Amino acid sequence: RDRKPIIAIDGPAGAGKSTVARLVAANLGLVYLDTGAMYRAMTWLVQQSGIDLDDECAIAELAAKCVIELAPSQNLDSPVQVCVNGYDVTTQIRTPEVTSKVSAIAAQTAVRLELVKQQQNWGKKGGLVAEGRDIGTHVFPDAEVKIYLTASVEERALRRLQDFKKQGLPEVDLEQLEKDIAERDWKDSTRKVSPLQKADDAVEIKTDGLHTSDVTAKIVDFYQQRLSQM
Ligand code: CDP
Ligand code: CDP
Repeated sequence: RDRKPIIAIDGPAGAGKSTVARLVAANLGLVYLDTGAMYRAMTWLVQQSGIDLDDECAIAELAAKCVIELAPSQNLDSPVQVCVNGYDVTTQIRTPEVTSKVSAIAAQTAVRLELVKQQQNWGKKGGLVAEGRDIGTHVFPDAEVKIYLTASVEERALRRLQDFKKQGLPEVDLEQLEKDIAERDWKDSTRKVSPLQKADDAVEIKTDGLHTSDVTAKIVDFYQQRLSQM
C-alpha cells in the first residue's frame, strides 16, 4: 500500500459532517479536509470579482488560477481557516450571501474539475478525513472507509439555528432555514456533475437524536474494524 487510509464522509447540509470529521481526525491523528469550504471560497471569489454567476467561461478562468489554502484550527469548535488567493475569507465564506449561491457555483464542471484536483492532491499520501458531497463517489472512490451521514431536514435546521444562536448571529426563522436547506439538498442532489449521492459501499448513519460523540465513536470503531481486516 502506497498511501495511508482515507475516510470519506458525505451527506446533506447540517448532517454533522464538519463537526464529526474534525473529531474523527483529532481522535485518529488524521488530517481533516473540508471540501465545502473550498466551494465556498470559490463562490466568494466569484462574488468579489463581480462576475455573473452564469458566466461559466469567466468562472472557469477564475477557478484555474485560484489558490486555496486550508489550515484546520487546533480548536475543535472553530471552522478551518481558509485563504483564497492570499485573502483570509474564514468568516466571509459562512455568510448567507455565500451560502445561498454556493450550490450554483459547485454545479459548474470547470469549478469541480479544478477543486477535485486540489482535493486529490491533499489525498495523495492518505491519512485524511475528507468530507463533502462527492468524496466517496468521486474524489476518493477507493477510500478505505465511506460514511454517509443523514438526519431529517427538521433536525438539521434546528442544529443550524442553534449554531447561529451560539455564535451570537441575528435570529433566523426556523421555517426559512428548513426551506433553504431543502433547496440546497435538492440542487446538490440533482446537478449533472457528481451529485450528492450515497456511494454503494458507504455505511449510512442516521444521526437524529444522536450526540456528535456517538457518531464519532461509531466511525472510529468502523475504521478500526476495517484496518484490522486489511
Ligand atoms: O456545511 P454545509 O453543509 O452547510 O455546506 P458545506 O459542506 O460547506 O458545502 C457547501 C456547498 O458546497 C454544498 O451545498 C455543495 O453545493 C458544495 N459542495 C459540493 O458540491 N461538493 C463537495 N464535496 C462539498 C461541497
Ligand atoms: O458539515 P455539516 O453541514 O454536515 O454539519 P456541521 O456544520 O458539522 O453542523 C452540524 C451541527 O449539528 C453542529 O452544531 C453539531 O454540533 C450538531 N450536531 C451534529 O453535528 N451531529 C449530531 N449527531 C448532533 C448535533
